[in-house]
Amino acid sequence: MKHLLSAADLDLDAATLVLDTATEMAAMASREVKKLPTLRGRTVVNLFYEDSTRTRISFETAAKRLSADVINFSAKGSSVEKGESLKDTALTLQAMGIDGVVIRHPASGAPNTLSQWVDGSILNAGDGTHEHPTQALLDAYTMRSRLGQLKGLRVAIVGDVLHSRVARSNVLLLRTLGAEVTLVGPPTLVPVGVEDWPATVSYDLDSVLPGTDAVMMLRVQRERMGQAYFPSAREYSRRYGLDNRRVKLLPEHAIIMHPGPMIRGMEIAPEVADSPRSTIVEQVANGVSVRMACLYLLLGGK
Ligand code: NCD
Repeated sequence: MKHLLSAADLDLDAATLVLDTATEMAAMASREVKKLPTLRGRTVVNLFYEDSTRTRISFETAAKRLSADVINFSAKGSSVEKGESLKDTALTLQAMGIDGVVIRHPASGAPNTLSQWVDGSILNAGDGTHEHPTQALLDAYTMRSRLGQLKGLRVAIVGDVLHSRVARSNVLLLRTLGAEVTLVGPPTLVPVGVEDWPATVSYDLDSVLPGTDAVMMLRVQRERMGQAYFPSAREYSRRYGLDNRRVKLLPEHAIIMHPGPMIRGMEIAPEVADSPRSTIVEQVANGVSVRMACLYLLLGGK
């Protein structure tokens, strides 16, 4: 495989290979010297047209642990602000002989388009409301390490499904891995055509929680909302927020996930986010191992 554009690019064997490779990478992270020489002499560009904390630092750390040279490009402060198009930026990267491009872009499909213009491997780090495959991989990795096998696992993805690339990539990957997904949210934040997704839909969080092994809370993406999708933040929290009362409805073994950044008090109560059942910080740590695995598998060959 050359690029990672969508979670659908991975069949069961490929997804399992990424997760197993990530396990090996994680073992290395506990050593004193955390660096592998694998990508020495290769150059990876982080091309970020949208804000990011975790994903960007995570990709940078991952590439550096594999000894790649890393160039961080953010649209702010670059010629993008002078009106340069994605195509011209791509041609510039191409001229410089870049081996891999990690791209985050507000337009769905931008990574696919970029892959037609440059020779290097493209890794989608989030494109609009479309996909975020490495997030789905790190989420699957977290579920596997906490709960064992993914086949038959019951996962609830809750909140702003409509604007969430995390939800889309998770649904695709979890289906491949044999888990059962239930999407939960207000009807206005569940996409049209969801019937065709390999998932069940519910509008009632309380009734879903008792049959859930992993509950994944989504951020309400106000920056992508041009109109009001729900009456008020308080009303949203009352119906779809994960608070202590709702946590008690979950089975004892269930884990609580969030891709970050979270809005404490809106989709998740602070005490729930910080509880021992929350894997939020673990997900971030796992992200580095998973992205190392992706970079290694895509760029590591000759
Ligand atoms: C997510 C994203 O950017 O899609 N965050 C992340 O990468 N960890 C989710 C979000 O912004 O809500």
